[in-house]
Amino acid sequence: MTAGGGHQVRLRVNGVTREAQVEPRATLAELLRTDLGLTGTHVGCEHGVCGVCTVVVDGRATRSCLMLAVQADGTEVTTVEGLTGVDGDLHPIQEAFAAEHGLQCGYCTPGILMALHALLAEDPGAGEDEIREVLGGQLCRCTGYQSILRSALCAAADVRAAAAEGER
Ligand code: FES
Ligand code: FES
Repeated sequence: MTAGGGHQVRLRVNGVTREAQVEPRATLAELLRTDLGLTGTHVGCEHGVCGVCTVVVDGRATRSCLMLAVQADGTEVTTVEGLTGVDGDLHPIQEAFAAEHGLQCGYCTPGILMALHALLAEDPGAGEDEIREVLGGQLCRCTGYQSILRSALCAAADVRAAAAEGER
């Protein structure tokens, strides 16, 4: 703990080492949004139900409203900003959601993209059952679940095709 009562944390976010001084009660969502300016991660219920705050921490989809910022010290975090390539190219999951109209207001979208990203990174062969299970933990207030599922299936097919291409 520093003299000001905060804790110094150091973590890698989207491939870049970042540091901040945080209050002991601060969540990872607050650290990302307020201290690091990564407002692509949204906050809704703030108690682990809606999934809009989902980011990837050390390879696992994580509700950033439920994780303390101090717990993220030393971790590797990917947020929705990290999906886009350095040249601005959209990730295949983002492409699929754009092509298949997988969003309306877009508030739930970053969390859904990151939950799918974690699933498909761990299991590029994930099928509809696994995708439905992941989507079951992500709430969309616009209720566009059919187009979200269609987009997710399309994204999974694209990720599978890219993985197969890489094996050739
Ligand atoms: S804001 Fe984190 S789960 Fe709802
Ligand atoms: S697109 Fe509006 S909350 Fe999901």
